[in-house]
Amino acid sequence: MNRRTIITGTGHYVPPRIVTNFDLEKLMSTSDEWIQQRTGIKTRHHVEPGVGSSDLGVEAAARAIAAAGIDKSSIDFLIAATVSPDYTFPGIGVQIGAKLGIPGIGALDVRNQCTGFIYGLSIADQYIRTGMYKRILLVASEVQSTNLNYSDDGRDTAVLFGDGAAAVICEPHEAEDGRGLLSTHLWADGRFVETLWQPYPTVKDKPYVNQAVIDNKLAFPRMDGKKVFVNASERMPEAVMTGLTANGLTVADIDLLIPHQANDRISQMVAKKLQIPLEKVVRNIDRYGNTTAASIPLALDECVLEGRVKPGDLVVLASFGSGFTWASAVLRW
Ligand code: UT7
Repeated sequence: MNRRTIITGTGHYVPPRIVTNFDLEKLMSTSDEWIQQRTGIKTRHHVEPGVGSSDLGVEAAARAIAAAGIDKSSIDFLIAATVSPDYTFPGIGVQIGAKLGIPGIGALDVRNQCTGFIYGLSIADQYIRTGMYKRILLVASEVQSTNLNYSDDGRDTAVLFGDGAAAVICEPHEAEDGRGLLSTHLWADGRFVETLWQPYPTVKDKPYVNQAVIDNKLAFPRMDGKKVFVNASERMPEAVMTGLTANGLTVADIDLLIPHQANDRISQMVAKKLQIPLEKVVRNIDRYGNTTAASIPLALDECVLEGRVKPGDLVVLASFGSGFTWASAVLRW
């Protein structure tokens, strides 16, 4: 018997407030023209104060549960991926379980930044294929807008990131129709920790929260954008090729490629390196910015809602981000 993991429901949720590049022009020396030319982003969504990643995650999860047509009480495990948890601890997994009204089941938090969703999918796949769990809720959710430096020295990151959440339901699939998750591949290289990170507040400081961190504007993400750009453009195509080769497939077999939405120029570069037509590459960064762990499942759910993905299609996911971590997944939808 060949048991695979299949995604039976998808959902996404973004907070209603849309922030345009023109809105950001009022806060820092930037321009709609610069942001669009360098990143492809036109708008992103920001939460209102008081809303956390767990709140967005619950909304997305409820939509995925409805799409799967399942009773939430049948979910037997929960995986949550975020770089922006509501609290330092605990993670949002336990909160999402409680807010959804399904406390008690195991909840695992994944901290792999932009690749969090594929890492989470890989974990879900192991549990499903071994038979340990039969219905896993995998949620990726980010509230990043409250932790960006909206001044000139933070403009390289503040314009990029957005808030949003997306979720999928993973179940076993035993039919011999070729459908399901074919593979996941994961990589990490911590030699690049300082290329994209948020080092403060740090437990290495005593006290952990101190005035110098605030005064020196240290508690914000920091990035060497060019280095990240170059590595993302190299590693994502490699990750796709590894996934395809492991399954005896080629780029020509791909129906839909969903790259992490970090910068539209990176997505175009990935397409060029793989020599895949842009029509097959999902690109929605113009409306959401970079929603980190949520970006791939959010794009996937939009494809489902638009009828852009059909049963039997070969869907390839690829991501790259802080860590560095990178990953790919190959699915027969
Ligand atoms: O989720 C995964 C992680 N993130 C990524 O994958 C992001 C990867 N990196 C990038 O997307 C790009 O490197 C950026 C969009 C961050 C920057 O684009 P770039 O083409 O690499 O620009 P740059 O860093 O070389 O900066 C060019 C100029 C600089 O000014 P000078 O030194 O030439 O005078 C920057 O200070 O653009 C300036 N700049 C801005 N100008 C207006 C940087 N950010 C902005 C801004 N508005 N928001």
